[in-house]
Amino acid sequence: MQKETARLIELDREHTLMSHISAVLGWDQETYMPSKAIQERASQLALFEGLAHQKAVNPEIGELLATLEAKHDLSPDEKAYIRKVRRDYDIETKLPEAFVTEYARSTSIAQVKWAEAKKDNDFKAFESHLEKIVGLSRELAGYLNPNARPYDVLLDLYEPGSSQESITAVFSTMKAYLVDILDKIRAKPQIEDKCLGRYVSSETQEQISLYFMKVLHFEMDRGRLDVSAHPFTTSLGADDIRITTRYVEDYFPSSLFSTIHESGHALYDMGIDPNPEFRGTKLAEAVSMAVHESQSRLWENIVGRSRAFWERNFLALSALLGEAGRDLDFESFIESVNRVSPSLIRTEADEVTYGLHIIARFELESALLDGNLRVADMPGAWGEKYKKLLGLEVPNDRVGCLQDVHWSIGYFGYFPSYALGNLYAAQFWAKLKEEVPDIEARIASGDTLSVLTWLRANVHCHGSRYMPGELVEKATGSALDPVWFEKYLREKYSSIYGF
Ligand code: CO
Repeated sequence: MQKETARLIELDREHTLMSHISAVLGWDQETYMPSKAIQERASQLALFEGLAHQKAVNPEIGELLATLEAKHDLSPDEKAYIRKVRRDYDIETKLPEAFVTEYARSTSIAQVKWAEAKKDNDFKAFESHLEKIVGLSRELAGYLNPNARPYDVLLDLYEPGSSQESITAVFSTMKAYLVDILDKIRAKPQIEDKCLGRYVSSETQEQISLYFMKVLHFEMDRGRLDVSAHPFTTSLGADDIRITTRYVEDYFPSSLFSTIHESGHALYDMGIDPNPEFRGTKLAEAVSMAVHESQSRLWENIVGRSRAFWERNFLALSALLGEAGRDLDFESFIESVNRVSPSLIRTEADEVTYGLHIIARFELESALLDGNLRVADMPGAWGEKYKKLLGLEVPNDRVGCLQDVHWSIGYFGYFPSYALGNLYAAQFWAKLKEEVPDIEARIASGDTLSVLTWLRANVHCHGSRYMPGELVEKATGSALDPVWFEKYLREKYSSIYGF
């Protein structure tokens, strides 16, 4: 290894340590912190973010990068590492200090205004704040790359290498088959999920969550489960991956599937191991939001809602439910957890309609960023999209364009990651099935380690060694192709709904 690379790693590790300390503060805030502590916690986090930013823009990093980029005898991992550090360094250094402060201030105000506007169902009260955030997002894109379209620059922040054009191409194929599958399902008798609505205490649900974390090989000595308002996964260190869930006492599948989902994220973080020399550096980070989401979706939906998985685990679930699980039979359970029904709320959407929620947001936010849609016209445009894509009337903005927090905090370009995650997951799954043809029989016999082993070897272990597009090619032999998700959905739902 070059001596400059060794020095870069030293600086990078300090930055990673600081971000893990910040993550401890953030995790505590969402789980155990008493509510009155919020003011000081916000100051603690702001101070730490400032210190971390100073470390990230250290000019020595720029000098080391320039020296290393001129060398021709770097190992493949050094090259990959330098590419990753360069990308992050450019993002950190291209934004003027004054802009960063203004952006942080405006998004934190907008988030509060959004929460109030949502509660009061009052888009007008949020409108000027959203306008401000759209403007700042354009400005941000301009600093990072003044020659590109703003929305392309923002998309690339979340899914490196993507653009509006590349995502539009993938989404237009996906839209056509999602609409077709949904039409076929609607022509059949609909599934009821009443059997899932039953009282199950938080204590019992916690036991169920812990049980299934172990089934999935979540390493309990490298992580833990807690409760928060919105489930999430966070890394507090290479050997400290925390997940959270929430217990809805009259609907236990909420915690069951969100725990499986977050465990999928955690298994990815636990499996990142590109090269011991690069432990604790940017090379040992997840490659992108979408690939991260592919891991949670694969475990939650492809494995966790499959017949094979429940053939093995339904008895254990029934035993854990005890009296609360009386009369819950296997067939109704499987059908109910795979029920497809268009709804207004993205986070509650099923596997088929979920992508339509994302397409709606993708089309609307790209129009906003391009200047083809005025912020004031968003509620009407949202209603039209939902009518067209999901066949639903949107009765108010609370369940319409005010439902998600993302835009208030400037996350333009983030939404597509969720749907790309489904596409990556299906493509990884297809390859896994080709290489391990009896995978479903293995899952049905209690072996989920075969799934994890494949993901570890083909996805997790690489960290940020490749760009997302390169990773999917390397793991599956071809570029991202939405056809795998189509095949998966058609096979699964034609058997459930009989079309
Ligand atoms: Co997720």
